[in-house]
Amino acid sequence: MSTRYQDITSSLQSDSKVWLVTGCAGFIGSNLLEALLHFGQTVVGLDNFSTGHQYNLDEVKRVVTPEQWAKFTFHEGDIRDLETCKKVTTGVDYVLHQAALGSVPRSIHDPITTNNVNVDGFLHMLVAARDAEVKSFVYAASSSTYGDNEALPKVEDLIGRPLSPYAVTKYVNELYADVFARAYGFGSVGLRYFNVFGKRQDPNGAYAAVIPKWIAAMIKGEDVTINGDGETSRDFCFIENVVQANILAALAQPEGVNQVYNVAYNARTSLNELFEYLAKSLANNGIVYDKQPVYAEFRAGDVRHSQADISKAQRLLGYDPLHDIVEGLEVSMPWYTQFLR
Ligand SMILES: NC(=O)c1ccc[n+]([C@@H]2O[C@H](COP(=O)([O-])OP(=O)(O)OC[C@H]3O[C@@H](n4cnc5c(N)ncnc54)[C@H](O)[C@@H]3O)[C@@H](O)[C@H]2O)c1
Repeated sequence: MSTRYQDITSSLQSDSKVWLVTGCAGFIGSNLLEALLHFGQTVVGLDNFSTGHQYNLDEVKRVVTPEQWAKFTFHEGDIRDLETCKKVTTGVDYVLHQAALGSVPRSIHDPITTNNVNVDGFLHMLVAARDAEVKSFVYAASSSTYGDNEALPKVEDLIGRPLSPYAVTKYVNELYADVFARAYGFGSVGLRYFNVFGKRQDPNGAYAAVIPKWIAAMIKGEDVTINGDGETSRDFCFIENVVQANILAALAQPEGVNQVYNVAYNARTSLNELFEYLAKSLANNGIVYDKQPVYAEFRAGDVRHSQADISKAQRLLGYDPLHDIVEGLEVSMPWYTQFLR
């Protein structure tokens, strides 16, 4: 395990801080909440349940102790409301800002709502966190910022033109964060997540991510549809690596602040390979899927290949991802098979 992560998490246990997790009822937010409560931290959560769910919070409650759960305060509210952002940020040490509308296709169908939440909401959170003088502000950026730059592996400084409204919003987040450092001396850290997966990722709806969507279909014996020829590839990142990156980023040394980092594993898996991994992992859990995938059109706005160079996060944050895709699936498949039936 990353020595720095080990040091930080053991020192946190004896020094409870106040963390704000926006989007705490969502996939990544609820996993951050669970980890922070396990580490004995006090957590304030904000969510408007637009894509997150009460049952994610209920599940976290089930897996932590009553004493840990008592250190969590939840606010139902919207980051599009500045007063709400100010209220939840007051008295907070560290902000992990995850609330946003994800999904490239969603943003293509409705760019205005995506912009309102991801840009206006983000700016509200920045202003609120600056005024509350928090110790650090970590936010969910995105690998979509690499846009049409096809160079691999992706290095933080070499980005292209955005391919979707969603990608524009996530890049604007980085620009605002940078300007807040220059104009107000307000430090932040952006984490460009690459295709995160793990427990509590929503398998339902038109905008579901590929891993939970396919697992749910395979468990039910339904067809799995691959957009394109299946050779499209991604750097799938297990949720525990993302949790580690967030905690390391919140407690980064000064040279690590006012930066953006790739958060991934630094491997490339094609959709055809992913299909095989999922079938195998399900079989190991007693579920046989013997259909072949159905191939459909490529999806608008999707990049063809993605793989991250993670050396910057390794160097400046001490990031050390512990699980590759196969190990991540092994850890999370029992959850999927229990909850996606
Ligand atoms: N999952 C990935 O692979 C991935 C990749 C790149 C970036 N990201 C980013 O990570 C963050 C978390 O993504 P996720 O996968 O957990 O998605 P998610 O949809 O599960 O979680 C987002 C949460 O934010 C909440 N939310 C949305 N709009 C809100 C608003 N206006 N006010 C308050 N809460 C609001 C939702 O209800 C939800 O609980 C997002 O910023 C997303 O853009 C995710």
